[in-house]
Amino acid sequence: MTQTPTQPSDHPASDRPASDHIDAMLHERRVIEPGDEFRAQARVTREDYERRYRQSLDDPDTFWSGVAGELHWFTPWTQVLDWQPPHAQWFVGGQTNIAFNALDRNVARGLGGKTAIIWEAEDGEVRTYTYAQLLREVKKAANALRDLGVQSGDRVTLYLPLTPEAAIAMLACARIGAVHSVVFGGFSVSALADRINDAQSKVLITADAGQRRGSLVNLKANADEAAKLTPSLEKILVVCRADCDAPMQDGRDVWWHDALNAASDEHDALPVDSEHPLFVLYTSGSTGKPKGVQHTTGGYMIGTYLTTQTVFDLKDDDIYWCTADVGWITGHSYSVYGPLLNGATVLMYEGAPNHPDWGRFWHLIQKHRVTILYTAPTAIRSFMRQGDAIPAAYDLSSLRLLGSVGEPINPEAWMWYYRVIGGQRCPVVDTWWQTETGSIMLTTLPGAHASKPGSAGLPMFGVDPAIMTHQGEELGPDDGGLLVIKRPWPSMLRTVYGDDERYRKTYWGEIDGVYFAGDGARRDADGYVTVIGRVDDVLNVSGHRLGTMEIESALVAHPSVAEAAVVGKPDDVKGESVVAFVLPQSGFTVDPKELRAHVSREIGALARPDAIYVADALPKTRSGKIMRRFLRQIAAGKAIQGDTSTLEDPGVLDRLAATPPV
Ligand code: PRX
Repeated sequence: MTQTPTQPSDHPASDRPASDHIDAMLHERRVIEPGDEFRAQARVTREDYERRYRQSLDDPDTFWSGVAGELHWFTPWTQVLDWQPPHAQWFVGGQTNIAFNALDRNVARGLGGKTAIIWEAEDGEVRTYTYAQLLREVKKAANALRDLGVQSGDRVTLYLPLTPEAAIAMLACARIGAVHSVVFGGFSVSALADRINDAQSKVLITADAGQRRGSLVNLKANADEAAKLTPSLEKILVVCRADCDAPMQDGRDVWWHDALNAASDEHDALPVDSEHPLFVLYTSGSTGKPKGVQHTTGGYMIGTYLTTQTVFDLKDDDIYWCTADVGWITGHSYSVYGPLLNGATVLMYEGAPNHPDWGRFWHLIQKHRVTILYTAPTAIRSFMRQGDAIPAAYDLSSLRLLGSVGEPINPEAWMWYYRVIGGQRCPVVDTWWQTETGSIMLTTLPGAHASKPGSAGLPMFGVDPAIMTHQGEELGPDDGGLLVIKRPWPSMLRTVYGDDERYRKTYWGEIDGVYFAGDGARRDADGYVTVIGRVDDVLNVSGHRLGTMEIESALVAHPSVAEAAVVGKPDDVKGESVVAFVLPQSGFTVDPKELRAHVSREIGALARPDAIYVADALPKTRSGKIMRRFLRQIAAGKAIQGDTSTLEDPGVLDRLAATPPV
C-alpha cells in the first residue's frame, strides 16, 4: 500500500508494539457498579438512558428538538438535520448565540449571583466571578473587540495562559459572531504563526506572561516574533498577567485592561445562524501541517450542553473542575462552554500539577470543595507514581465523581484513581472523544452504568458507533478493528478550515459513508467499547496529539539533519513518548541537545524527542517508503518482527538496534 495523505499508514493498531497497558486493558475483566447512594440521586438512570438512547436513534428530530428547546433561540429552527453527506447542518434556519446561552440566559433565570468561575493561579492568587460579573466582562470585551474592528465571521487568535481572560475572550468572540482560534500557550512562535496565517486572523489576544512551575513564560515576546510572520494581523490585545511591562508597538498593541475600561458594559449578543462558525481549533493529523477543525454554533452548543449535564451528573451545587487548558478541545468543551451553558461553578487552575509539590491538585480540591474532577490518564499515572500518602494527607471527601479523558486509561491507573482519589465512592467516567467530535461520544453514565476499567463504555445519545474493517465490514463482539461513527451528530466538525477536500478524505473517505475516527477499538458483547489507540501516524503524548510528520518536518528543517523518521514508544506515564531517527547531513554532526531545542522552537516543548537515534540509513522499501513499523519495534527495544524482505537494505535494522539512542 502506498502512503497517501489520507491513508492510515503501514501499521494497524495490532501492529504497534503493545504496551503492558494495552495488554492489561484487553485482559481486564473487572466490573464496578455505581454505589447505591450515587445511583439514587443520579440525573440519568439506566432506564432513562435506554429509552432516551433509543429515541435519539429512532426519532432523532424529537430527541434533539427536546434538548435544543432547553436553550434560547432568537429564531427557531425549521429543520433539525440536513444531511448531505459528508456535510451536516443542524437546527437549520435557527438563530442563537452560545455566549448568550451561557451567560445572559443563566443570569435571567436567577443565577446572576452564583459563582461561575473560581480561578486559582499557580502562586495561590484567587479570583472569582459570578455569572453577572462574567457577563459584564464579556460584554465589555465584546465591545472592545468591535472597537478594534472585529466583525462577525472574522478570526481572532488567542494565545493565553489559563486565566479567566481566556474564557472571557472566547465568549466575547462568540458574542459578536467572531471565530476564535485558541493556540495553546506552550506552542512555539512558528506554530503560532502558522495557525494565525492559516486562519488569516486579524486580531491576536495574548498576555505579557503565563505562570508555569514557578517561572514566567513570556507569551508577548513570542507574539511579537509571530507578528513578523503574519501579515493578516492588525492588532494585538495584551492581558497584563505579570507587571504590564511588555514593550507595546504603537498603533498595533493595546492593553486588554485599557480596552475593557474604555468599553461600554452594554452589549446585545448577536443572533447568529446555527451553522455560523464558532471556532477553529488546530489539531495534528497524519500528514503535514495541523488541520483547523471547524465547529459551528448550534450543534456544538447542544452537544456540550447535554454531555456536560448527563456525563457529569451536574447538580446546582457542584464545584466542577476540568483540568484541561483552553488550548485543547477539552478546555473548550468542558472547562468553558459545557459547564457555563449549564450554569455550573467552574474551577480553573493556571499552573503545574506538581507546583509547589505533588499535593497541589489535592490541595485545590480540599480548598475549593471540588465535587467533580475531570483529568487525563497521564496526570493520574504521574500522581500514582508519587504514592498514596500524598493524596491521603488531604480531605478529598467533597469529590463525588471522577472523569478521565484524552488517551486510553490502563486498568491499574483507573483502579488507583477510583480507590485512592475517589475513596471507592465516586464513579469514574472514561470519556472517549476527539477535537473533531466536539463533545463526548463514548462513556458510561455514572448512575446508570457499571464501569469496566480500561473501557470507555457505551455511546452517548445520538452516537451510532461500530467497529469495522478497512473494507467497511462491521465486526462482531470482541473483534479488534477501526472505530467509526455511522451517522452525523450535532457537535461534529463541519469541515477543515480552508480545506474541505481534506475533511472529506480524512473523515468520510477512508471507509465509505461513515466517520473514520483514526482509532483502533473493540466492542464487547455488552456494547462497551475499548479504544486502544491511534491507527495512523498520530502520537498521543501525555494526552496531547502530535503528528509524526510534523515533528519530522521540524527535524529536517535543522541544517544537521538530512532525513528523519519519528515514532512513538510506549511510556508508563505519558502513554507514548517521541522517538526520532535522524540521518545526519553530510559534513554535519548531530547535537542532540541542540536538536531537541530546535524542535521546541519549531513546535513546542511537548514535541521534543525523548530519544534520538543517529542513523547511517533508515529502513526503506525499494520504492522509498520508510517502514516505521520496524522503527517502532527498535524504539520499544523489541526484537524485529515481520517481513523485512521488502527493505532495500535489511541490514539497517541490525545496525539501528545496535546503536544506543542519545
Ligand atoms: O486516540 C484517541 C484519544 O485521543 C484522540 C483525540 O485526541 P484530541 O483530538 O486531542 O482530543 C483529546 C480529548 C478529547 C482520540 O482519537 N482519546 C481521547 N479520549 C480517549 C482516547 N483514547 C482512549 N480513551 C479515551 N477516553
